[in-house]
Amino acid sequence: MIEGRLIRLRPVERGDLPAFVRWINDPEVTEFLKLEPPMSLEDEEAWFAHMLRSKDKVFSIDSKDGRLIGNICTVNLDWRNRRTEIGIMIGEKDLWSCGYGRDAILTLVGYLFEELNLNRVGLLTDSANTRALSCYERCGFHREGIYRDYRYKRGRYVDCVLMSMLRREWDERRARSGP
Ligand SMILES: CC(C)(COP(=O)(O)OP(=O)(O)OC[C@H]1O[C@@H](n2cnc3c(N)ncnc32)[C@H](O)[C@@H]1OP(=O)(O)O)[C@@H](O)C(=O)NCCC(=O)NCCS
Repeated sequence: MIEGRLIRLRPVERGDLPAFVRWINDPEVTEFLKLEPPMSLEDEEAWFAHMLRSKDKVFSIDSKDGRLIGNICTVNLDWRNRRTEIGIMIGEKDLWSCGYGRDAILTLVGYLFEELNLNRVGLLTDSANTRALSCYERCGFHREGIYRDYRYKRGRYVDCVLMSMLRREWDERRARSGP
């Protein structure tokens, strides 16, 4: 269990999968995600089995009152170069823009830098995902550039924004905000 301010990150349990399937099959939740709904519980169980064998790490996000609200994971964790990308989904839409995403990201990023000793955390998001971009910038991620026409979605190509945070930037941020 990794404690944040508003949330806890914990290992995914099989019992979480029906909620994940509900979120994935909600077009509003997955509008900006690189997933291919519709997905079944069997699809999700296959993903879960794959993740258990993978070097990537996936966590369920619980609010402090014990409600399962989303998940967050590393993508392409690379020990040699001490870097990873991350992906996040707050599936409970009534909790969007309440600070849970930011807290989950800061909690995971702190763990990745301070416990796993990574040097770089990156992510990629659609340029139209303005809520996510605001959230990531508030967390301290920097825009590095645009992948033009990166994804084909609803009949057209869309741009994606590459962002990252380095360990030294995390340390500076921590030094500024105090213990
Ligand atoms: C993107 C996501 C992780 C953000 O988490 P969240 O808990 O909703 O966001 P937060 O409350 O932490 O931060 C959102 C910020 O964006 C702002 N915001 C909300 N809607 C916005 C919009 N349409 N445009 C710009 N900014 C917006 C909020 O005011 C907040 O900024 P503030 O902290 O300065 O007030 C979450 O909404 C989510 O999972 N969405 C669906 C899946 C998804 O898009 N995942 C990311 C794929 S890369």
